[in-house]
Amino acid sequence: MLKLGVNIDHVATLREARKTYEPNPIDAAKECIAGGADSIVCHLREDRRHIKDADVAALRRAVERLNLEMSIAKDVVDFACNIRPDQATLVPERRMEITTEGGLDVVSNVRKISSVVCKLESCGIAVSLFINPSKKQIDASLKTGARIIELHTGEYANAPSMSAKKRELRILKEACLYARSKGMEVNAGHGLNYINVVDIAHIEGLHELNIGHSIISRAVFVGIKEAVRQMKGLIG
Ligand code: PXP
Repeated sequence: MLKLGVNIDHVATLREARKTYEPNPIDAAKECIAGGADSIVCHLREDRRHIKDADVAALRRAVERLNLEMSIAKDVVDFACNIRPDQATLVPERRMEITTEGGLDVVSNVRKISSVVCKLESCGIAVSLFINPSKKQIDASLKTGARIIELHTGEYANAPSMSAKKRELRILKEACLYARSKGMEVNAGHGLNYINVVDIAHIEGLHELNIGHSIISRAVFVGIKEAVRQMKGLIG
């Protein structure tokens, strides 16, 4: 069954809007699990704009499956090796971006990324690479030693027309099939919501979807546990 990872960064974003202690991302994570989340995802950004080091440490203690999104910056890699999330998802990071833009350019950075994959794996952390759905990026990902990828669904989610959406969906399906044929575990995420997730959930061979903004947005109205439960119902 397709798994659901819930990204709780926006709970911390709300807390940081007032630089206070609430809402507490750890309590939110527990509610996500109660709603059926299979893993908790958070992004420790280099600028620590929402999730802080202490949040990750507390999440590590509080949840069974923690997926830490992170850049390949040395201090973040060292921190991850110390905390030991179950999985690290390597993402590109630019200071001024509102959210992660595009996938990692693994093709141009095979050596740099390989050494980070090797270091994290030697700490017992499974490593996933967040990439655009292209064969070139998949082949390069394989060269780094990573055995998990997360396909960026942003182009699909933001497609301006039905025909563009269909095309992006086809590209995602082909990329998933190709990576699976190479023995990789394939996840997907970014920009998924309660409407566009349905077609993605039908892609054969996908292991897990990682969803944040849409679930936390719905949680404002129905509560986080119920928002997760509804998403789980759509993809299960
Ligand atoms: N996957 C990755 C690698 C991401 O960087 C993000 C955004 O933090 C997500 C999934 C979730 O995206 P969204 O918040 O649009 O659901």
